[in-house]
Amino acid sequence: MDAVERSLYASIEVESEALGEAAMHLLKAGGKRLRPAFVLLGGKFGTYELDQLKRVAVPLELIHMASLVHDDVIDNAQTRRGQLTVKAKWDNRIAMYTGDYIYAKALEIAAGLEDPRIHRILSKAMVEMSIGEMEQIRDFFNSGQSIRRYLLRIRRKTALLIAISCQLGALAAGASAAAARELYNYGYNVGMAFQIRDDLLDLCGTEKQIGKPPGSDIRQGNITIPVLYALQEESLRTPLLQEITRIHEANGRTDVSTAVSMITGSQGIAKAEELADRYTQKALEALDRLPDIRACRHLRDIAHFVSKRTY
Ligand code: IPE
Ligand code: IPE
Ligand code: MG
Ligand code: MG
Ligand code: MG
Repeated sequence: MDAVERSLYASIEVESEALGEAAMHLLKAGGKRLRPAFVLLGGKFGTYELDQLKRVAVPLELIHMASLVHDDVIDNAQTRRGQLTVKAKWDNRIAMYTGDYIYAKALEIAAGLEDPRIHRILSKAMVEMSIGEMEQIRDFFNSGQSIRRYLLRIRRKTALLIAISCQLGALAAGASAAAARELYNYGYNVGMAFQIRDDLLDLCGTEKQIGKPPGSDIRQGNITIPVLYALQEESLRTPLLQEITRIHEANGRTDVSTAVSMITGSQGIAKAEELADRYTQKALEALDRLPDIRACRHLRDIAHFVSKRTY
């Protein structure tokens, strides 16, 4: 992971002052580096060669970072990782090109990989991610959306990138197709649990824990699964819908604490936690079908961390 970190820094070394500076700002703010960790662990199921794996791990973290820069424009977010977002520190125009710049850097590094499968998988995931974020915009403040729709969206915007991190680590290390497939399954289920947890944290976390003010999702109109579950409760449905409409009419520039406490006081929290646990369980089952090497233990630990994480 230290080697990945060094490559990440080297990859966005200032070429253009403004872009390099903005990209570096986000890189320095930290982050969990979960996707590169998955790549390296996936690589343990084949012939582990760090130089080769870095060509996958670094682009995956860069793709993730680029998506965050753009995500913060769409979500109108002021802070990320406890720091100002690129859009807040600079502006939306700089954020657009900073995102593009980081994506391009990802391509540059991935170009060192010969296996065409890897390129196809990477581009497909980026396409799906864009669709997922786009669908989310279309569904802002749509409180009538189905749970199925929510799940499809988070699959696209989050779970697939995590799934392919695990899978591509295996492929880049020449692991068996069966191992790559189970790693994908593991990553997909961890990824679903990860986003559900992210959505829970947005409601239940503290600003210190999540690096941004809680209630950001509802403020921007992003209707997440705890909200959908809360809306199923007879006694909450009407007042919560009224609150959501009020927030919508104020374009999010209003107090959201009433809505947040309605949701956190509902069964929606426990139900969402239960759903995240079910995905975690499935991820652990996928691990059971993999060769029992040491990396499995780390993947198991990460799955548990993801489902209980507080940051
Ligand atoms: C944030 O991802 C965006 C989601 C997919 C929920 P992370 O929580 O992995 O972000 P960092 O990299 O640790 O900041
Ligand atoms: C995940 O969704 C963002 C991407 C997959 C790009 P969120 O919008 O919930 O992520 P955070 O909460 O801002 O990190
Ligand atoms: Mg966001
Ligand atoms: Mg978002
Ligand atoms: Mg979020």
